[in-house]
Amino acid sequence: MNKIEANKQAWGLLSEDHYNHFKKKFIENSYDLNPIVKKELGDITGKKVLHLQCNTGADTIMLAKMGATVTGVDLVPDNVHFAKQLANDLGVENVDFIESDIMELMENHEGKYDVVFTSDGAIGWLPDLNKWGKTVKYFLKDDGFFYVHDSHPFLLSFDEEKIKKGVLDLIYPYFDNEADVSTTIGGYASDPKEAKNYFWMFTLSKLINALSQADLFIEYLIEHDRCAPGMGGTSTDENGLRYFPEFEGKLPLVFSLKATPR
Ligand SMILES: C[S@@+](CC[C@H](N)C(=O)[O-])C[C@H]1O[C@@H](n2cnc3c(N)ncnc32)[C@H](O)[C@@H]1O
Repeated sequence: MNKIEANKQAWGLLSEDHYNHFKKKFIENSYDLNPIVKKELGDITGKKVLHLQCNTGADTIMLAKMGATVTGVDLVPDNVHFAKQLANDLGVENVDFIESDIMELMENHEGKYDVVFTSDGAIGWLPDLNKWGKTVKYFLKDDGFFYVHDSHPFLLSFDEEKIKKGVLDLIYPYFDNEADVSTTIGGYASDPKEAKNYFWMFTLSKLINALSQADLFIEYLIEHDRCAPGMGGTSTDENGLRYFPEFEGKLPLVFSLKATPR
């Protein structure tokens, strides 16, 4: 089985649990977009948004609630099925969802968007950032913009369990070109499941060069030492952001980048 197919099957094991998790949060009125993303993204009222790697649609729905018309894309058929179901349950109409590997989206979908958006655990699932950059550009209107917010790749180099105890153990090489194979998936919106899956380490330079070579101009790159819940950290600050007290001001946790067509 190829690596994308393995990832499709692995993520598919989580679809129904994610749907139930996010539906409960919406019903309790306790789901919101990542606060850093919300602030940086600004007003998207009336915009046409393409949301890459939308999972079961929770953030797609939040973007729609902010006044945009949003198309979510995900690799996994059950994610698309449950995303449609979630939008239907919540009576959100200005969204639609399509199933596609991002690596094949230019062949599978047509359309131009004001905003191409991706966030929170997306980039490392893609084997070819140059193709990703071209895909972002392909779907952007000339006056549109691309926004990405994700885990900082330097943080991803360290053992995720030891870092919670204040120990930095660099076990995932920052410059690795091979996919890292893991035998469990999920855990942030469901119990983790056993399934082989593949994650591609990326560097900030690879990401920036991929966008630049696709004729996108980098408007900004921000590195944050605090992040939204679910993205890292062991303590919570007065604004609800998470951080590692031992590494405050020393280690980037997440980054944000905005780019526009040249
Ligand atoms: C951590 S989740 C991202 C969740 C996202 N923050 C959201 O909006 O909910 C990663 C998602 O990427 C999707 N994915 C992984 N590889 C993909 C690919 N090659 N093409 C499209 N989606 C992919 C998975 O199915 C999963 O839903």
